[in-house]
Amino acid sequence: MSQRTFSIIKPDAVKKGHAGAILAEIEKAGFKIVSIKKVSISKAQAEGFYHVHAARPFFGELTEFMSSGPIFPMVLEKDNAIADLRKLMGATNPAQAEEGTIRKKFAASIGENAIHGSDAEETAAFEIGYFFAGYELK
Ligand code: CMP
Repeated sequence: MSQRTFSIIKPDAVKKGHAGAILAEIEKAGFKIVSIKKVSISKAQAEGFYHVHAARPFFGELTEFMSSGPIFPMVLEKDNAIADLRKLMGATNPAQAEEGTIRKKFAASIGENAIHGSDAEETAAFEIGYFFAGYELK
């Protein structure tokens, strides 16, 4: 069944000029881009987005990084979108990511790992709503 997920092309990938190549991988894998924009977020906005990680030791580093430059938040759609995007992204730590995955190709480290993807339906709903209004999701 068709499903929506939320993704972000992170500041490292945008800075290196990899946004277009990453979008091409996503489209080649059969995802429809429902909505996409280029934004810069504040540290407080990054903290709100990643609130589930607030107690983690890397929270400061993560939110500093995510507010360090422009990002491309987007909503993607296909059958089994949440699991399929995570497979396409590869492991969080690019050192453990499989050949052919986006993180294997474009990520430098566990922190600067090129792309984010929702891990469950509930998270996807929160994350889509954090960045997009209903009228942007036709
Ligand atoms: P993401 O899928 O965006 O969700 C949470 C992020 O935290 C994750 O990708 C990583 O980029 C980041 N992260 C996870 N573990 C670490 C870590 N040990 N050090 C720095 N960042 C981390």
